[in-house]
Amino acid sequence: MKENKPTILMTYELPGDWQGETLKAYNVILKEDQDKGITSNLLEHLPDAAGIFCLLDDPIPAGILHSAPNLKVVSNMAVGVDNIDLAACTELGIPVGHTPGVLTDGTADLAVALLLSVCRRLPEASEDARQGKWSSWNPTGWLGTDLKNATVGIVGLGKIGYAVAQRLSGFQPRIIFNSKNPKPEAAHALNARQVSLEELLRCSDYVCIHTALNAETQGLIDKKAFQLMKESAILINAARGPVVVTDDLVTALESRQILAAGLDVTDPEPLPPDHPLFKLDNCLITPHIGSATHHTRRSMAKIALQNLTAGLADLPLPHCANPAVYQRSRIKDF
Ligand code: DGY
Repeated sequence: MKENKPTILMTYELPGDWQGETLKAYNVILKEDQDKGITSNLLEHLPDAAGIFCLLDDPIPAGILHSAPNLKVVSNMAVGVDNIDLAACTELGIPVGHTPGVLTDGTADLAVALLLSVCRRLPEASEDARQGKWSSWNPTGWLGTDLKNATVGIVGLGKIGYAVAQRLSGFQPRIIFNSKNPKPEAAHALNARQVSLEELLRCSDYVCIHTALNAETQGLIDKKAFQLMKESAILINAARGPVVVTDDLVTALESRQILAAGLDVTDPEPLPPDHPLFKLDNCLITPHIGSATHHTRRSMAKIALQNLTAGLADLPLPHCANPAVYQRSRIKDF
């Protein structure tokens, strides 16, 4: 604690106009290097830290939490919290903030953009045009696939999966989805059918991944899953890279076991420039930009700061990823 201000560790410096006055109340320790997580200069301040503000690719393991005896809150500027040891936070009574809702539309828009780009081969067609390979209007050139009457399979019908289904329904595909819990109302509203993962993989022309990353979903789309998929299938992943087994995806794309993939997320992230996935002409990769709109990112920062300040004031977080923490936490008055 410096000048009686609580110490917070920030792994990323938000633009001034996104911060407003919020951080003036704290002794802010900003990370000085490019490594991910609580490293370098942040480590020496851990014993004093009351708050951590981090990003989705900053690992926050139990060891870090145990080295921060005064920690009151971890605020992640993301909806996903798979980078944080949530169980350890709950055990230690530390609420974890996240940013649901505000990135639903942006991420759903990007997933649809990826799907359309891959199925209509936009990167390849654009590159060919630029390279002078557009010699005439070619009746058999750059042929893609349709959405109308095709089957779209959504894996994980949370907010984002639902928003993707809503957007795609305008293209008049058949929509099926797989979800942990029965969702009859969503099925009715989307004119969709809830099916097993196996049926979804067998039947879908487009497989869109929108599930959170957890112990159950890690490696969900593996060699066995690719064997079930159609040869004409397109895989879209705008959720988390490790839901798909990368080596199995490379094999499936190289051997044309599936037609193509559009990935906004990969495992690892960032994907090294010499990675085999970058060498494939049937794989479009964007650098985890699902939520990258001015409005969305500003909104995420605002919520992340609200979570941070609430936690520092011993108030319930507006968006808490581990609400079980309040059954055992230090918060007294709510
Ligand atoms: C999240 O917030 O988890 C998203 O992946 C950001 O784009």
